[in-house]
Amino acid sequence: MRKFEEKLVKQAAELRTMQPAKRKGSVKWESPSNIAIVKYWGKYPSQIPANASFSLTLSEAVTSTEIEFEYDSSIVEPELSYSFHGEEKEDFRMRISRYLETIEVYMPWLKHTKFTIRSENTFPHSSGIASSASAMSALALGLCDIEQILFRQKETDFYRKASFLSRMGSGSAARSVYGKMSVWGLTASCKDSSDEYAIPAAKMHPDFENLRDSILIIESGKKHVSSSMGHNLMKTNPYAKLRFEAAEANMQKLCNVVQEGDTGTFIDIMENEALSLHAMMMTSNPGYMLMKPNTVAAIHKIRQFREESGKSVGFTLDAGANVHVIYFEKHAGEVQQFIENELRPLCENENVIHDRMGDGPRKK
Ligand code: DP6
Repeated sequence: MRKFEEKLVKQAAELRTMQPAKRKGSVKWESPSNIAIVKYWGKYPSQIPANASFSLTLSEAVTSTEIEFEYDSSIVEPELSYSFHGEEKEDFRMRISRYLETIEVYMPWLKHTKFTIRSENTFPHSSGIASSASAMSALALGLCDIEQILFRQKETDFYRKASFLSRMGSGSAARSVYGKMSVWGLTASCKDSSDEYAIPAAKMHPDFENLRDSILIIESGKKHVSSSMGHNLMKTNPYAKLRFEAAEANMQKLCNVVQEGDTGTFIDIMENEALSLHAMMMTSNPGYMLMKPNTVAAIHKIRQFREESGKSVGFTLDAGANVHVIYFEKHAGEVQQFIENELRPLCENENVIHDRMGDGPRKK
């Protein structure tokens, strides 16, 4: 068993001997989505990443989750009702139910608790923005908060535990529990990094404050190939080992670049990572392609604009067709004008979501 997990299992053994100080209540947490600059793609059992990743925490794209809870020692498995924007969602209720089973070993009180969970996203449901990072982190933060209320304990490792538990729900969610920039996964580039939880990235140059992310919605709606399937295909991808080594090399460069304020190299690494991620999809067996013609058109336009204007702007991609245009505060005016003129017409229903680096989750 890994070190932090061992600590949580020991804590759980103590909790099993305790009676809750309080039995009922409600908590509400708002947690953001994040966009990876160095990508997590490939994992081992129990959500251990094949390489370390680095992300920006977003500001506007958040999930808000309210959890009403009632501890009742006579029940022996968690009772759960779940609604999303006021509508009961059976598929997500089942997913949360399985999730609670998985993390019961760290939170033994879960099985004696009734939950009513109400969740909402600030970003449109069908925008194609990944919601598992914000949803799973908001839930994990809420559960950690409930544990403190029930047992009147002040958890010194609150965010590490929340990150660990978020990871069990969705790997990328581990990075959403901190503001600004996060690192998840063991890497020589970052002291205190861990495969078990994310940590806030070390100091950043002032030029990186207020980084912008304008999301071009090239295609909304459900993903054609899920991330779990994509991660799974990395097990047999002939380039996987090289990819994991390249990601670590990018991590090492990126951490220096962010501290030194080298915006040009930041953009090079970010675009290399985005294209490498999609190259992994194309070279998997079966291979697949999530970029659409307008994804490629947007990439060309961004690169051309950068060359002609000299502005620090670049792109990254998630596991989908949408394009994240990443740029710096000082060029925001010109870049947004370029987005309006050249990129918005490439988007589905001309939909662009302007976001930026944010301060992380908030208890409401
Ligand atoms: C392409 O975190 O969605 O967004 O751990 O299976 O839930 P699971 O996968 P998920 O994978 C995200 C992959 C990515 C890159 C990234 O966010 O690092």
